Amino acid sequence: MAFEQTLSIIKPDATRRNLTGQIVARFEAAGLRVVAQKRMRLSTETAEAFYNVHKARPFFRGLVEFMTSGPVVVQVLEGEGAIAKNREVMGATDPAKAAAGTIRKDFAESIEANSVHGSDAPETAREEIRFFFSELEIVG
Ligand code: CMP
Repeated sequence: MAFEQTLSIIKPDATRRNLTGQIVARFEAAGLRVVAQKRMRLSTETAEAFYNVHKARPFFRGLVEFMTSGPVVVQVLEGEGAIAKNREVMGATDPAKAAAGTIRKDFAESIEANSVHGSDAPETAREEIRFFFSELEIVG
């Protein structure tokens, strides 16, 4: 298993309900280390750029509106197999399909307000980390 970094976002539905600490605790309990973290309010332009890959999808406009509706916490998580491990801890995109004990099963409100985002592959992880963080902000 490779030692990896992945980009995580704690979404507005979770920050609104004050769940940031509980979500971070789950990452840490799974062996992931938070090596960069900042709380921010995404602009429409930033959310559109981040989710550009989904721009043709019917849910794109709603997704951008939701992601700009409140603060998010963006993070870099590091560890052995961090990308897959993070996805395992998050659970399926749709909380109705997420396994028991996952973040989305326990906290997500809907497929849109699904509490967390995580990179899906090494190349996307690199791009998504670079989108939000400079080298100086990542301290392992
Ligand atoms: P995320 O991992 O952030 O990547 C894209 C997001 O689009 C996804 O999580 C969901 O929050 C959101 N989304 C909204 N509707 C859908 C849908 N029907 N299928 C997939 N993703 C959706």
